[in-house]
Amino acid sequence: MNTSNQNYIILNKIGIIQTPYTDKAPRQPIANADGTFVLILNAEYSKALKQLDSFKYIYVIYYLDKALWPNELELSKPLKNQQKIGLFASRSPNRPNPFGLSVVKIKKIEKNIIYISGIDAFNGTPLLDIKPYIKKLDAKPDANNGWIDEIEGKYFIK
Ligand SMILES: C[S@@+](CC[C@H](N)C(=O)[O-])C[C@H]1O[C@@H](n2cnc3c(N)ncnc32)[C@H](O)[C@@H]1O
Repeated sequence: MNTSNQNYIILNKIGIIQTPYTDKAPRQPIANADGTFVLILNAEYSKALKQLDSFKYIYVIYYLDKALWPNELELSKPLKNQQKIGLFASRSPNRPNPFGLSVVKIKKIEKNIIYISGIDAFNGTPLLDIKPYIKKLDAKPDANNGWIDEIEGKYFIK
């Protein structure tokens, strides 16, 4: 399947994300957020979920369809000391390819519907992909927080 033509790539929306957030969402997922969070896959992908429930966590990859084209490649917020951050050193939704990536917990799977812990996406956000979060591959014990440590935990909740 060749879906690329020089600079453009065509993607398939595989479903939608249902959340309680209409116009305001947390900056990153809140695991125990109030409300129901569901990934609704198009019915034809039900088979592709086989064995997914053997994992506790998944990566959810989605299209931030209400994002804006980034005006600047360096962002001044949210660091207090006016130091700038490169767009790719940020999780800003406004980027050349507005993909969102969140790790969430699977609560249960029923046919083509995955009930998950809280996710930081607006209701109706197009779903692009799901991948298992694999402890042996993905957990990095020497990971750090980069510039986030300079802003005293204010980053995570809007
Ligand atoms: C900072 S981004 C982080 C997204 C993802 N966790 C990541 O790191 O790639 C989360 C913010 O994106 C915004 N957002 C959520 N759904 C969106 C959508 N469908 N289109 C545009 N912006 C969206 C909300 O303002 C939310 O606070």
